[in-house]
Amino acid sequence: IFADADAASRQLAGEIAALIRERAAAGKGVVLGLATGSTPVRLYRELIRMHREEGLSFKNVITFNLDEYYGLTRDHPESYWRFMHEQLFNHIDLPAAQINLPNGTLPRGEVFGSCRAYEDKIAAAGGLDLQVLGIGRTGHIGFNEPGSTRESRTRLVTLDGLTRRDAARDFLGEANVPRHAITMGVGTILDARRIVLLAWGESKAGVLAQAVEAAPVDTLPASFLQGHPNVRFYIDGSAASALT
Ligand code: F6R
Repeated sequence: IFADADAASRQLAGEIAALIRERAAAGKGVVLGLATGSTPVRLYRELIRMHREEGLSFKNVITFNLDEYYGLTRDHPESYWRFMHEQLFNHIDLPAAQINLPNGTLPRGEVFGSCRAYEDKIAAAGGLDLQVLGIGRTGHIGFNEPGSTRESRTRLVTLDGLTRRDAARDFLGEANVPRHAITMGVGTILDARRIVLLAWGESKAGVLAQAVEAAPVDTLPASFLQGHPNVRFYIDGSAASALT
């Protein structure tokens, strides 16, 4: 539990930078799993600052994002492709060929193959060294909504009503929020060697307490993180307020 979101974001950015530099010194790369949404914005801002002011290079980094809305083109204002470029990728020296997001623009018949290819690409890169997560008020990680199994892999999912309502403001109305998304599965996330979940603010307190303190159950997919050998939640005081 950190004093505030800035302190927690700085801590994680420092750890990511240390990992990148340590691997670079050994001539090796780092595979990062990344999240979108409001939660990781401070983390990305700090990584950009370290790139500009401290010479942190991302040339040896490969990234895989958790999810993408289904049906939005890359240039849609709310696509996660665009979000990641605006919030991070456009401001650092990460080579474009090392950036990966699920493709939300394929016809239905091609989605299954493209999800398998995403899994294969993560595996071919050596697996995720570190997966950064946020948490939704439904208890989702990525877009693994209630009902997602522990073994689930990258796939097309239907977004929960609460998730769509939470996104309504960004989309200027709930009717504009896509009904489907492509997300890494819970199993894909749990395969990461290290996981850090970030959460700020009171609106996450209830779901966070359940994820940490209740028995793992598919009605709250974040609770499956309890079975992972190297997972940490970096949270602020308000997000921690319902923990017993
Ligand atoms: C984003 C993602 C989601 C968000 C979650 C929290 O890639 O997979 O699980 O992390 O919905 O969103 P914010 O940070 O906007 O509260």
